[in-house]
Formats: sequence, C-alpha cells, structure tokens
Amino acid sequence: MKLHIPLTTTEDRSYAIDIANQFAIPETMLQGRRLFIVSNAKVWQLWGDALCANVHQQPYHLYLMEDGEQFKSATTWIAIQEWLLAEGANRKSLLLALGGGVVGDLTGFVASTFMRGIDFIQIPTTLLSQVDSSVGGKTAINLPGGKNMVGTFYQPRLVAINTTTLSTLDPRDYAAGLAEVVKYGFAMDSALFEYLENRVTAIMERDQVTLAHIIAWCCRIKSEIVAQDEKEGGLRAILNFGHTFGHVIEKEGHYCDHNHGEAVAIGMVLAARLAEKVLSLPASATERLIRLLEQFTLPTTTTLTQETLDAGVASDKKSADTTITFVLTPSIGQAVLTPFSLPFRLKEISA
Ligand code: GLY
Repeated sequence: MKLHIPLTTTEDRSYAIDIANQFAIPETMLQGRRLFIVSNAKVWQLWGDALCANVHQQPYHLYLMEDGEQFKSATTWIAIQEWLLAEGANRKSLLLALGGGVVGDLTGFVASTFMRGIDFIQIPTTLLSQVDSSVGGKTAINLPGGKNMVGTFYQPRLVAINTTTLSTLDPRDYAAGLAEVVKYGFAMDSALFEYLENRVTAIMERDQVTLAHIIAWCCRIKSEIVAQDEKEGGLRAILNFGHTFGHVIEKEGHYCDHNHGEAVAIGMVLAARLAEKVLSLPASATERLIRLLEQFTLPTTTTLTQETLDAGVASDKKSADTTITFVLTPSIGQAVLTPFSLPFRLKEISA
C-alpha cells in the first residue's frame, strides 16, 4: 500500500523582527502560556530584571546554561529538554531564548524537537545574534567533530531585539558582530558598505540610533533572502560569505584563537583575494574591506599555511562530494556562488 503524505502547507510561519530600545514582547503572545526562559548567568544578571518587567510579571521557569560555544552541545540539549519535562512544560508552552548565538541556536533546536516542536521567541543580546543568527530559523548544536553539525530549520514566533543590550557587550564580541555587518555590506549591499565606511566613529561609540539603523538594514537583507530560500537550496548560501575559510580558521584555532566573527573577518579577506583572481574583483575593493575591518578592530590575516586552508576547505560541511562552492564577490555589494573542484588548491587557481 502506498500512502501519499502531502507536505505542502498553507500554514503561515511569518514573524516579526522587532527592533526597539527595550524588551518589547506583546502581552498577547504570552497570555495563558507557561513561560520557559533559557539564558546564561552573565546575561541574566545584566538583563533578567528588565526582561521580567516586560513579560508582564507572568510566572516563568528559568534555565541558566553555561556560557561558551562548547556548551552548545548534545549534553545541554538533552538537559534542557529533561528540565522542561520535569517543570511541566507542554506543547503550548513558550520558550524564550535570552542571549547570544549559543543560547539562541541551542534553544531553537530544543524548541524544534521538544514534544516535536513548541513555540519560541528569540531575544538576542549580542550584535552578531541580532543581525544574523536569531533571524532565519537556523538552529544547531555542535558535535566534537564540528560546529553546527546537528540542527534544524525552525522559525521563531518573534525576534525581539533590544539594542540597549549592546551597551554591555565586551568589545571583542561587539567587533565580532561588526564582522557579520560588514559581510552584508561587502557581499550584498554596496550602500550599506559605504554607510559603514562613513559612520565608523558612531559605530565604535555604539551610538544607539546608528546601531538600530544598521541592525534593521541587515535584518531586512537577511529576511528578504530567507523569504526566498528558507532552507538554503541556493540563494541563502550567499549569507555564508567569508565563512568557508572562516570555519577552517575557527576550527584550526580550536575555537579559542579566534571567535566566529574574527574568523569570518579573515575569511572575507581571503575570499576577496580569491575573487580578485577568478572574478576580477578590483584589488582596491579588497583594500577597502581590510581598512574597514581594521577600523572595527578585527583581524584580517592568518598564520595558517595554504595547505592547511586547502585541506580544511575540503572538509567544510557545505562541500559536496567533488566540489566546494565559495561565495565570491565580483564587486562590492554583489555575491556569486562559485563552485571549485576538489581537491581545492588555491595556489593553482589563476586568473
Ligand atoms: N548565518 C547564515 C544563515 O543564517 O543562513
């Protein structure tokens, strides 16, 4: 007997990205539901009271996970689900992820699997998570063998961004978020890139108005891309500009030497140099990229050898059996998916 399972759905999964200078979660989303908040001790200490004031004094359950990429793990994923069960969570319960990419990716993954899926709200508190990881529904945990190796596409019900949380961000984490902002400009929107070049001082001073404008700009670019290609069949991959070399740099440094944004910054410069060779990107464009990244206090060079980079690229999770596809930029603001045969040997690639 053959059964037909119609997978086309008319269910509306669209959601708002709300950018404000306070926590702004509508009461209607919370009413009559049990609330379960996942955060970490540092973020909770800084922002827990302000969030609670916003959740309209409703009772909530709180899970504080350890801070750090190594805790975005299967162990934490199971622990949170056991906690949810023990605390009486049900299918109508609502999960709130208050924190950066680690909290957001992990909580999203829990939301997508617990009782086969419950609602969750992203409340990102780092620049990187506000402009990138909280938007678009990628959820993940790491395996010992690699970052984000297990995950789902599972959209939140709301992304509630409070830009004032950036005021307490460590300078290195702030710069890491700026790397993703530069990514949007250099690979997707030349007007954004020029805006960043012209606003370095305000950005480094964390001017709230400028930041809200930039965050909204990045989220608009990302949501337009995700709306067209939610599950990364093609177009969405351009959001990975700088990430192929970046992942190698992160991994080779054992996720210690460079954080994600720093590795992406170096990865973007390497990708731009590759684009100079194969897509005639003017060298002056790469120089502008390097200058902007340096102004944002980000690294732009690596000590890894070419051989290490080549080998690492081949084991990227986005590589296919015989090819690896890079996101390359023929000009500032444009990105093209460019496949190369494996084994990848950068030295042998010529103009
Ligand atoms: N961070 C890339 C994406 O969400 O697709």
